[in-house]
Amino acid sequence: MPISRRDFSVGAFVGMAAASGIGGAANITAAKAGRSVDELVRDEEFWRPVQNAFPVDRQYANFNNGSTHPSSAAVIERVCAMYKEINGGEKGPPLQLVAHRKALEGVRTQLAGWLGCEPEGLALTPNTTTGLMAAQFGVALTAGDEILTTKQDYLEMIAAFQQRSQREGVTFKMFDFPTPGPDAQTFLDLCEQAITKKTKILLLCHVYADTGYVPPVKEVCAMARSKGVITMVDGAHAPGNLDFELSDLGCDIYAASLHKWTGGPLGSGFLYVRPDLVEQIYPLFPVHPMFGDPGRARKFEKMGTRPLPHIALPPALELQQALGKDLVAARLRYLRDMWVQPLSADSRVEFTSNFDRDRSSALGSFVVRGRDLTDIKLQLQDRFNVIVGYPIGWDWPFGIRVTAGIHSTPEEIAALNEGLHSVLSTV
Ligand SMILES: Cc1ncc(COP(=O)(O)O)c(C=O)c1O
Repeated sequence: MPISRRDFSVGAFVGMAAASGIGGAANITAAKAGRSVDELVRDEEFWRPVQNAFPVDRQYANFNNGSTHPSSAAVIERVCAMYKEINGGEKGPPLQLVAHRKALEGVRTQLAGWLGCEPEGLALTPNTTTGLMAAQFGVALTAGDEILTTKQDYLEMIAAFQQRSQREGVTFKMFDFPTPGPDAQTFLDLCEQAITKKTKILLLCHVYADTGYVPPVKEVCAMARSKGVITMVDGAHAPGNLDFELSDLGCDIYAASLHKWTGGPLGSGFLYVRPDLVEQIYPLFPVHPMFGDPGRARKFEKMGTRPLPHIALPPALELQQALGKDLVAARLRYLRDMWVQPLSADSRVEFTSNFDRDRSSALGSFVVRGRDLTDIKLQLQDRFNVIVGYPIGWDWPFGIRVTAGIHSTPEEIAALNEGLHSVLSTV
């Protein structure tokens, strides 16, 4: 049975959420008072207002939140207001954009507070790609230098280093690690073995996109620093998923997308560069000294005239802050286990995620021996209105990826479980 259509429209849903202020930060803070994470994580009454804050079409159960997470009604309203202000403000579009840019300073401070890093190291970029690539292309290298990453890093980032290698004669190397991801020491050893005296940059993910594997980033960064290697962390999937403080990781460079797990507006991300390294890294789009200081991370934000969706980030950050990183991370794992546990009863299912507490995150992935994974994905979609990620992988199928978000409901997970059970019961 496909998941049933709710008896309210999407429009009514936005109105309801906005009018009553449900899911508002103050209400959440009050509802949390004096209660433990363990208690809150399974209290569905507590989560309803959070789910209702997201005007998603509940005709579909969306488990592809790792690609792009929906935004709350409050974020959407702020994005719409931004465009109205640009068009309708008495100052006219150019001055209104200047006003928006000034307002971003408050957003930068709020984001830095939530991430746990210095605001001076933060550039507000449209996404992980623009942030990370600025750094990937911006570190000065000479022919013969080596750049290192893993075979499971994101293909676009691999392509960026391949291009540098072709154009500049630097050596680009990749190493692989087992699936499901290994224990911390094995991963650390693989990194250390792959580093040579010529290695200048090591790129790794904070959360690997295909399997949700979380490598020991802090230990890897410390080891790399002791060898003089610059560490770049692709954090696309970490903020709003893992409970961490950015400054604790000890990395040199970190980039992420806030339109994934954080629920920020589409086109919001950031690049963090350790403040004392900023001056050495060229921006992708050079800034005339009249418009920017080469010693400040803001130079990475310049990319011509464009809307500034980070203006609409505060309601998403307020929701995340009110819930707390520990509760969000625990809830996402709780939702993950609601489909992983029943599925593990099927002996043909092989999980490609390592579900060890410290090496896992909200993402889960699996293969089914003897079955076409794309067919499973399409049957879930066409017969049950359940959306999961396309099976992807570099040179090995990492499987079907399921990513529930904080807006996901137990009813939707029940629809996923029912769909999986039915699709896997047919030969
Ligand atoms: C690991 C990883 N890095 C980078 C990206 C790119 O993110 P964006 O398209 O938001 O720049 C993704 C997107 O899914 C990803 O999974």
